[in-house]
Amino acid sequence: MKVLVIGGGGREHALAWRLSLGASVSQVHVAPGNAGTALEPNVANLSIAVDDFAKLAEFAREEGVDLTIVGPEAPLVGGLADYFNAQGLRCFGPSRAAAQLEGSKAFAKGFLQRHGIPTATSETFADLAAAKAYVRAQGAPIVIKADGLAAGKGVVVAQSLTEAETALQAMLSGDAFGDAGRRVVVEEFLEGEEASFIALCDGHLALPLASSQDHKAAYDGDRGLNTGGMGAYSPTPVVDDSMHERIMERIVQPTLAGMASEGAPYLGFLYVGLMVTPSGAAKVIEFNCRLGDPEAQPIMMRLRSDLAAVCAKALDEGLEGASLDWDARAALGVVMAAEGYPGAYAKGEAITGLDAVGGERCKAFHAGTRMDGESVVTNGGRVLCVVGLGDTVADAQAEAYAAVAGIDWRNVRYRFDIGHRAIAREKRF
Ligand code: AMP
Ligand code: GLY
Repeated sequence: MKVLVIGGGGREHALAWRLSLGASVSQVHVAPGNAGTALEPNVANLSIAVDDFAKLAEFAREEGVDLTIVGPEAPLVGGLADYFNAQGLRCFGPSRAAAQLEGSKAFAKGFLQRHGIPTATSETFADLAAAKAYVRAQGAPIVIKADGLAAGKGVVVAQSLTEAETALQAMLSGDAFGDAGRRVVVEEFLEGEEASFIALCDGHLALPLASSQDHKAAYDGDRGLNTGGMGAYSPTPVVDDSMHERIMERIVQPTLAGMASEGAPYLGFLYVGLMVTPSGAAKVIEFNCRLGDPEAQPIMMRLRSDLAAVCAKALDEGLEGASLDWDARAALGVVMAAEGYPGAYAKGEAITGLDAVGGERCKAFHAGTRMDGESVVTNGGRVLCVVGLGDTVADAQAEAYAAVAGIDWRNVRYRFDIGHRAIAREKRF
């Protein structure tokens, strides 16, 4: 099969790399890709933007691409899968209607409520006075979320009423996120530990991927601004076997059944962001209509199956009888970022030390990088995700950080404590 991956971040490097190792795959193209995908054997970059649907489809048709997999949310919410499928081009990703689970938080919350799927209680508002009155009645801490896509920045966990009212004002006026913020979801604050649970779905059946945990805060100890994610590992001990079963039974399967019953069957990767509360309940914090980034990097490091074959089966005949094989070891990825991220940062810095990373236990996935002649330079906020494999999360962490220590550029920054929750548990037992 010829496979086209759409996107240019760390998730897409991990996807393209894993796909390229599958027995059914002859060639992977990535649009637009990054330096990591440019350097990967059997992977080629294509300079087409993720929102240029016509050029992407033209390439897929002319090149005889057998399967397209979409990495980021924006083209999916914009209807790329519908556009491809309408032309008979096989595309693994949710329709525009199904991608509303990520595209509109108000839709997602309404959906969860309609189908009795566990989530924080919430109300949706377009009117500032009504939203403020609700917030005052509920009290702080409380969570304010922009309805539409806001590049991972549309959530404010307000510790005080003042903070909540400031966020409401900024979002509802359109100042903070434009139209994406003109409706807000105001949500109960949930205590607990977060986990990421992703399933590969055919519209009716779900094949769970290995569980994972992200680290959203910029600094060690989970302090500082929220980012796209500063590191992740898989599996996560919060999702033990019984929790895994409960998530599938109470959340993932009802979500697929609910979407099918509403006329928008969900085909593609479904990402469930979960809060596991101290009493052991799993509640949905958010849905994403795609793989997580950086969760995809450790997950793809552990996957042993021919991923393209499984996605093609989901599209052609359904997932009945399908399975995925995993490396039993843990994988842990450390995001190396540009100083300043998630705010302003410099680009174009030369990266050194990448050649020394290799072997079966370690891989440097690129995110914001590009080729500058023969050298690799920084081209984004999150630049690399360096993943190690080990028998325990602590071993995987040691492997990843040993490789990180050899990589450098001017003003590189990363967290030193990725995996801290799992490692604390490993020490306790
Ligand atoms: P989201 O973009 O929905 O993933 O939210 C970003 C982050 O905000 C999440 O990863 C959580 O850390 C936090 N968050 C979102 N909703 C809640 C909630 N109801 N209670 C506590 N924290 C939340
Ligand atoms: N790492 C969280 C996300 O991909 O949304």
